[in-house]
Amino acid sequence: MSADHGTAGGGFTAVVLAAGKGTRMRSDRPKVLHALANRSMLGHVLAAVQEAGAARLAVVVEPGRADVADEVARMAPGASTHPQAERLGTAHAVLAARDALEGEGARERADVLVAFGDTPLITAETYARLRAPLRAGAAVAVLAFEAADPTGYGRVLTENGRVVAIREEKDASEAERAVRLSNAGLMALSGTHALSLLGRIGNDNANREYYLTDAVALAVADGLSVAVVNVSEDEALGVNDRVQLSVAEATIQARLRRAAQLGGATLVAPETVFLSADTVIGRDVTVEPHCVFGPGVVVGDGCVIRAFSHLHDARLMEGADIGPHVRLRGGAVLEAGVHLGNFVEVKNATLRAGAKASHLTYLGDAEVGAGANIGAGTITCNYDGVSKHRTVIGAGAFIGSNSALVAPVTIGDGALVGAGSVITRSVPAEALALARGRQTTREGAARVLRETLKAAKASKDGKRG
Ligand code: UD1
Ligand code: MG
Repeated sequence: MSADHGTAGGGFTAVVLAAGKGTRMRSDRPKVLHALANRSMLGHVLAAVQEAGAARLAVVVEPGRADVADEVARMAPGASTHPQAERLGTAHAVLAARDALEGEGARERADVLVAFGDTPLITAETYARLRAPLRAGAAVAVLAFEAADPTGYGRVLTENGRVVAIREEKDASEAERAVRLSNAGLMALSGTHALSLLGRIGNDNANREYYLTDAVALAVADGLSVAVVNVSEDEALGVNDRVQLSVAEATIQARLRRAAQLGGATLVAPETVFLSADTVIGRDVTVEPHCVFGPGVVVGDGCVIRAFSHLHDARLMEGADIGPHVRLRGGAVLEAGVHLGNFVEVKNATLRAGAKASHLTYLGDAEVGAGANIGAGTITCNYDGVSKHRTVIGAGAFIGSNSALVAPVTIGDGALVGAGSVITRSVPAEALALARGRQTTREGAARVLRETLKAAKASKDGKRG
């Protein structure tokens, strides 16, 4: 959490509305739990309002949704959740969190910032900008943008350059519908006026809903000042269906790639690299085209990730060089200078400094010592159909190509396993293990066999003809 945005001038309470059904997602999962860059939309909003300096966080949820409550606990452990029993509109939803607005200590956190769980692209900086006019005396600040097509949005109505009301599409006159200045939905209300304004909002409108947006006209009628803060239409995007979800994903990816680049990573073809919200990439890292970073990936300085690699829950230390076509799965740890070549898969395994597996290998539930060399086609046979078992390979060991290491098994430091071995018993340090059929060679036997086979075929074909 950074204190750069908005903590000056007293904290504020953020109320995140997340009680929506999200019917248009056509999903069994609540809309706000759909993910962007492997983090839920709600998670993005919670992260941003925390970064903006919220002193208290209240999340309004549909009653009985344990999955939403779990996500809140995970992404914002100090937040409270407030069930909204009936979905009677955005003002009604904010008031479902009344406890958080008027409880103990509310005086100090005073200001109220309303955020939407389905508007995931708003940055911490924008939340802080939305709140800023309150410190200059505004009672209400609304976030607005010039919509290319304002259909469906509330219109921000002005008179002589001053905001007088927000009108929902369904309640708007023909002339009002022509207004392109649209409400992004989010709002900041000064603590002095918030509860009084919210408490007076009625539901005399086409939807019979309690509209948060009516706080604007009420404030104006009270002679209070209402500020408009501008935001780009891209950032204001609200996600209602999976098409919009993918548009939001593209924006988040562009931001993550840019942050990685500005942090010192070369992305050769950034538009083909997919990052997670929690991906950490160091300096002087090169990422070749078509790489995917799932959740939980940390890449140290100087690493090279070659084309078509897929990483998930993995840690690469300084100077690791992997790919093309490497797959790192849960619990892969590559220490400094590890090299993995094409078609190598690593799961729940630690490779110590300088270890190498250059081709076609599976290392699962394993520990590979420093400088060990794993030959092409080596497989750790970690699963017996019932349980998983560990393979331990010592420092400087050499595993010949096409070996199967049947776990549990230990290969000692400096040991050598002959190519094609099936190793079922542990090998001591510095030992040479060979576990394969002994080769026999019969001089000239190939020719004899070939001629016998040809003769047999000719006699068969002759009978048929
Ligand atoms: C709202 C604004 C509109 C704005 C638009 C921007 C109001 C009245 N209108 O309209 O001016 O242009 O957002 O996208 O605020 N929610 C609840 N409980 C409720 C109702 C809503 O939790 O009872 C939540 C929803 O889950 C959603 C958010 O509040 O996250 C906004 O509600 P929604 O119904 O999408 O409002 P819009 O009609 O889009
Ligand atoms: Mg909406």
